[in-house]
Amino acid sequence: MKGLLKILLLGGTGLLGSEIKSLLELKGHDVVDPSHRLLDVSNIELLNQFFDDNKSFDWCINSTAYARVDLAEKETEEANLLNGTVPGHLAQLCSSNNVRFLHLSTDYVFNGEKRDLYTEEDSVDPINVYGKSKLNGEIAVLQSNPDAIIARTSLLFGIKKPSFFQALIENIHEQESFDAVDDIYACPTFAPDLAKRLIEMMEKDIPGGIYHVTGTECLSRYEIGIIAHKLYLENFRNKPFEVVPISAESWKVPARRPKYTGLSNEKLNSIGISKAEPFEKNLLLYMHQLLGAPVI
Ligand SMILES: NC(=O)c1ccc[n+]([C@@H]2O[C@H](COP(=O)([O-])OP(=O)(O)OC[C@H]3O[C@@H](n4cnc5c(N)ncnc54)[C@H](OP(=O)(O)O)[C@@H]3O)[C@@H](O)[C@H]2O)c1
Repeated sequence: MKGLLKILLLGGTGLLGSEIKSLLELKGHDVVDPSHRLLDVSNIELLNQFFDDNKSFDWCINSTAYARVDLAEKETEEANLLNGTVPGHLAQLCSSNNVRFLHLSTDYVFNGEKRDLYTEEDSVDPINVYGKSKLNGEIAVLQSNPDAIIARTSLLFGIKKPSFFQALIENIHEQESFDAVDDIYACPTFAPDLAKRLIEMMEKDIPGGIYHVTGTECLSRYEIGIIAHKLYLENFRNKPFEVVPISAESWKVPARRPKYTGLSNEKLNSIGISKAEPFEKNLLLYMHQLLGAPVI
């Protein structure tokens, strides 16, 4: 294991990036995280200049993204620029500056038809614009920098950004019911837990390639709702609430979602990187962050 690292973090204000930043700083690593305002990564000249002016990073983490899955169906060019073209350029810059590159990707590179955990060897076949743009990014990164790490993750939840999880828990706390899709499955991934494992991957200087890095359980939003309500009853207060199952068909959103995108983390586990904490443990932590209520 290397000692303290000097890390360039792009996207440090985002849901995942902010957790990576906090933990890196807590561990004493040297983090440089230029904001979007200071360094727009889609401006290639600015990026080149930044790398000319700033040397000696051990790692660059790209946690920037065009992450609006539904809007991407309309804003195809914007999504492709940020998710497809920019990562390739960053990977190239890192390669020529002797900086290791860690890039984030998604379970949405798969079409969801396998119905069993996807491994890194499985064929990709994205079914929406966001997934296609992220796949373009993966290809561009590995073409220009085979030593890069691509970490595919899924269904993030964390305190820094509103999400399905926040809406669900606020509804459990304040309302009587919540509609949740029961026929789309993915592995919910707690952003602080993911940040911890990504940092471990950099500290251990693991070989380049694609890795799946997600939570351990593959669940539908309906199942997540049931678990969240159970935890609420056990740890907060007794309150009636109904999670209402709905089908993906009746969930009217512009982008198609793959039906099943559980990702096997076996490759990562086999090289000694820790597993994610159990989903219930992470969800309870998150509920406390959100609601602030004491454990009974
Ligand atoms: N969220 C999920 O459920 C999920 C699931 C699977 C994979 N992922 C992947 O995980 C990674 C992190 O996602 P996230 O949810 O943390 O994203 P996020 O919260 O949307 O954060 C994106 C970050 O990128 C920055 N950014 C956007 N455009 C930029 C630009 N042109 N120049 C510089 N910075 C820019 C944003 O800064 P501003 O806010 O200041 O614009 C923000 O800090 C992404 O690669 C995403 O595709 C996410």
